[in-house]
Amino acid sequence: MPRIGVMTTGGDCAGLNAAIRAVVATCTGQGAEVLGILKGTEGLMADPPGFVVLDAGIVDGPLLRQGGTTLGSVNRGNPLRHPMPDGSTIDFSAKVKAGYQALRLDNLVAIGGDGSMRIMAELARRTGIRFIGVPKTIDNDLAATDSTIGFATAVEVAVEALDRLQPTAASHSRIMVLEVMGRDSGHIALSAGIAGGADVILIPEIPWRVAAAAAAIARLAARGRNYALVVVAEAVRDPEGAQAVVGPSRPGAMPRLGGIGGRVAAILERATGAEARVTVLGHVQRGGQPGATDRVLAAGLGVRAAELALAGVSGRMVAVQGGVLGDVAIDEAVAAQRPVDPAGQLVATARALGISMGDA
Ligand code: F6P
Repeated sequence: MPRIGVMTTGGDCAGLNAAIRAVVATCTGQGAEVLGILKGTEGLMADPPGFVVLDAGIVDGPLLRQGGTTLGSVNRGNPLRHPMPDGSTIDFSAKVKAGYQALRLDNLVAIGGDGSMRIMAELARRTGIRFIGVPKTIDNDLAATDSTIGFATAVEVAVEALDRLQPTAASHSRIMVLEVMGRDSGHIALSAGIAGGADVILIPEIPWRVAAAAAAIARLAARGRNYALVVVAEAVRDPEGAQAVVGPSRPGAMPRLGGIGGRVAAILERATGAEARVTVLGHVQRGGQPGATDRVLAAGLGVRAAELALAGVSGRMVAVQGGVLGDVAIDEAVAAQRPVDPAGQLVATARALGISMGDA
């Protein structure tokens, strides 16, 4: 009986449990055993390894609907460069291999973002372990796939926030600034802004000017509008070119972004004379039930990944390209990130709707 491991790595998002469920349904449906690895590669490095048996019973439970990941996850650390107290790093890939072998896995489905895919690719090269990647991240910034699990739900959450902000903005004649996540890309801000009727959308891919954003709001006022909705992606820079960062970041870790919304609100208040307020959505975008789009995506990617794993394939990531579900070599999957294309169709759509991208 083949034995397939499944784990979630990196930041969580809605739809991870739906993907785990799809892997379990496919594998058990074909007579394979499934072990859920706890807390990503940490579970494999632990002695004894951290795991749970995932039998067909979980397919019938509430897992499909649940947010987070039932297996736990970590978005810090890297087994290839494990930090030691003296500041040095150690390669723990042998520990990962030992865990993989102790569990007698034939293959491993790793559900993760671009950072996790990079680590898995290198781990596989160094140790020979087999794995299939499944792309997830609310940021939707993997170049090799049109969509990643979690993005659609994060956008829904941001749109709901805009739907709730609009009436209170109109009641109080205010500028409402909504700061959304997305790391270095503006996909969430752009999609949510279009779907939620934003007037101004600021994304890191398009440098903004205070005068242009303020003029866009002034144009609204000139036609009788008493409020404005502004969506700001967390990586947007302030007029001095600085990103807003929350607290100190760990050595070697990416800075934790957050706070640009407040700066933008203060700037626009000064520039327009209108009252401004800010809402920072933060991790609300990652939690909660997955929407239908993410459940369908997680099902498709999870089934495909399980089929590849059962067939003994390794070093590939399942992906959606041009609406078609397939898989790509892992090196292709991690070769580049996918920022918003400033000349792309979605930005053009926003501009055609009269939305200011902060540059005009
Ligand atoms: O990459 C997903 C993401 O949610 C980003 O959008 C965000 O910047 C980051 O993770 C937050 O990470 P953490 O959970 O460590 O605060």
